[in-house]
Amino acid sequence: MAKAKAKSSVSKSPAAPAGKVPAKGGTRVAQESGSRSAPIINIGIDREDRAAIAEGLSRVLADTYTLYLTTHNFHWNVTGPHFNSLHAMFMQQYTELWGATDVLAERIRALGHYAPGSYAEFGKIATVPDVPQQPPKAMEMVRILVKGHETVSRIAREFIPVAEQAADAPTADMLTARCTVHDQTAWMLRSLLED
Ligand SMILES: [Fe+2]
Repeated sequence: MAKAKAKSSVSKSPAAPAGKVPAKGGTRVAQESGSRSAPIINIGIDREDRAAIAEGLSRVLADTYTLYLTTHNFHWNVTGPHFNSLHAMFMQQYTELWGATDVLAERIRALGHYAPGSYAEFGKIATVPDVPQQPPKAMEMVRILVKGHETVSRIAREFIPVAEQAADAPTADMLTARCTVHDQTAWMLRSLLED
């Protein structure tokens, strides 16, 4: 006889509004994974903490992916006298962002949740706006990317204490490293806008 399925307190908790730290365990953003045939995850971080951290990582992932796509689009569509330098700079930046999405997604998996990975899911949870339909002028592209990097930095920073409170040093370190990259990239892009 099949055992009754264990009730999930996680799936009953309300999702936090986009960009806000969720209540402990409050998530529907990163669905919990697992199977009865596999051992229960036992890495010293309780289930509700793993859910809250996975939600934070999912939001950072959605924003990182959206910023990646925006940067790659700008690499393709930039025009004007700064074409060469911006085309090359955007390539460096989208390559870095692309690499980061994999690291973030796989940390979500290590915490026992599924990683979001569709335009529909990203569209629901990302704070960074979608790529503009009409390619902007070169310096407007730079301005959009400054805002994007600052936004991802703020979201990542917001979730560092959630990871720290659960003694999840790997996630806290990962989010700290993301803040370093986003702050530095925002500075470099912002410098292009100065006289
Ligand atoms: Fe290219």
